[in-house]
Amino acid sequence: MTSRFIVGNWKMHKTVSESETLVREILTAYCAHPSVEVAIAPSFVALQSVAALLRGTSIHLAAQTVYQEDEGAFTGEISPPMLKAVGCRYIIIGHSERRHILGETNQDVNLKIKATLRNQLQPIVCVGERLEEREAGLTTQVIHTQLQEGLTGIPIQDLGKITVAYEPVWAIGTGKAATVEQATEVHGEIRRFLHRQFGIDSQTQRILYGGSVSMENANALFESPEINGALIGKACLNAESFGKIILLASQ
Ligand code: PGA
Repeated sequence: MTSRFIVGNWKMHKTVSESETLVREILTAYCAHPSVEVAIAPSFVALQSVAALLRGTSIHLAAQTVYQEDEGAFTGEISPPMLKAVGCRYIIIGHSERRHILGETNQDVNLKIKATLRNQLQPIVCVGERLEEREAGLTTQVIHTQLQEGLTGIPIQDLGKITVAYEPVWAIGTGKAATVEQATEVHGEIRRFLHRQFGIDSQTQRILYGGSVSMENANALFESPEINGALIGKACLNAESFGKIILLASQ
């Protein structure tokens, strides 16, 4: 049994000083628990000051995306070595907002995962279907393609460092989370696919659920043995709800 993993994705919220306030509130609201790993992903500009506040705590720092080159003429981009130097341990890759608003492809995701691993950082790779794909019965196919193309060419010893987050696009920011049954079914499918295609150990592979996770529904989601934690958007911007979800994950 892997430990549960709770990740807060702050998206494009909070100035630097607002980020500092939220981290202080989270550190007050939150109790470290050995069976739950926690990471937060503030904006790039807040990483440094959030890292300073997290030093000496058990909460890890994550970035929301990364560029696939280590350095060079890539105006506006941020590289894995930069994120490593500021104290990140994790990088969220292929979030649906990056895919569908900013046009990231599975090939981009693949290069970003490789760059992340090359720099000894750990990717949190997001996959998930859109509503019309689910309704057309394409959920499994869409996710298989995202995983197959996203993970191609990565050595088996590195694949074990990847956390997968199943985030149905229709559940993100809508208040309409997947049911426990829906999430459990897709997580099981992902686990079997990763084992079949890449030889990844089904027992140790961490698969998070994301999409409208809240204090109200977290407990039911965590009861599923397939769900190893959560990637949280809205509910992580409030220290009380984020702390409560971490507490639920520890039980
Ligand atoms: P949400 O976002 O919790 O606000 O639905 C989840 C995510 O985008 O990771």
